[in-house]
Amino acid sequence: QKDGFRFFMEKEIYEQSDVVVDCMLGRLSDDEILFDEIDKSLIKGINEIKICACGTSYHSGLTASYLFERLSKVKCNVEIASEFRYKEPLLTKDTLFIVISQSGETADTLEALKMAKAAGLKSLVICNVDNSSMTRTADATILTRAGIEKGVASTKAFTTQTVVLWMLALYFGKAKNVLGSDKLQSELHALREVPKSLIIDDSMHEKTKRLSKRYLHGHGFFFIGRDVFFPLALEGALKLKEISYLHAEGYPAGEMKHGPIALADPELFTIALMPQNLLYDKIKSNVEELSARDSTICSISPLDFDLSDDFIKINETDHYMLEFFEMLIALQLLSMEISVRLGNDVDMPRNLAKSVTVE
Ligand code: F6R
Repeated sequence: QKDGFRFFMEKEIYEQSDVVVDCMLGRLSDDEILFDEIDKSLIKGINEIKICACGTSYHSGLTASYLFERLSKVKCNVEIASEFRYKEPLLTKDTLFIVISQSGETADTLEALKMAKAAGLKSLVICNVDNSSMTRTADATILTRAGIEKGVASTKAFTTQTVVLWMLALYFGKAKNVLGSDKLQSELHALREVPKSLIIDDSMHEKTKRLSKRYLHGHGFFFIGRDVFFPLALEGALKLKEISYLHAEGYPAGEMKHGPIALADPELFTIALMPQNLLYDKIKSNVEELSARDSTICSISPLDFDLSDDFIKINETDHYMLEFFEMLIALQLLSMEISVRLGNDVDMPRNLAKSVTVE
């Protein structure tokens, strides 16, 4: 069943290019995004989007909040479902409530969805499992079509969620008439390139294996990024924590100087997400500050950066979301290889379950 791969997680990392093709099938035409599962009435009168999710699914939601505001010009905020439930949230009926869940069964996310429904909001679930509790509860469902995900650490579910959310941001943008046709065309072009960006280069995998030898000795890791690369940094840190049991934090790069930089020393590994197509100079100066304080820097970027101690090269592309997916692969492989070297159970890390059905 592992088809020659060592772990389900490895198989699922390698499957991402193909499952993304399934995810986009019939949803991407020459000049628009099609979602047969959404009735136009679902987005009529909507002025705001609220997203709720847990764990990795929360990270795809956070990524989407940048895309919704940028591409659909809709206000969007994202909450961790277990926080949302008890904060006595103020909900207005012009808000579309989106929940994201691989399993469709996560207790906190399901309860958040029920609360929104009870408050009269329209709801949409982005889910990998048809006929799950969430798909039965929400007004509408978009399936991610990632196939069964066995590794406890989520990989292809996150990727397909992010692709669906990016498509949804474009769908909204077009429906609201806020996307020029040139912009839409260039976004659609980039979307079509996603499967290619997820094809794994042997040299990248080898590089992560080599780095894992030293990185398993890290005393702490900061994953840093800006914009959508901030949620990606959170996701990279979560993957490392889950399967390697090493302490890792994801941080917005611009926040490091507001406290965490005090931790910088050679035993602190900084994994810097440095896209060429978005805020490169800004992140570069954040990394320079860390390097000046002796943190060991590993940059993931299409561009070699002279202050990096280590460098994982991704392909040059012309869209930041393509860089996002290339970096995601590097992060997934790096955490898996560190976990392998530590002798951990990659597919079934300690203390974790695939589906969290208790709050
Ligand atoms: C991390 C991971 C978890 C889940 C979280 C939500 O790799 O798998 O953080 O993302 O438990 O699960 P779903 O998406 O099924 O609601």
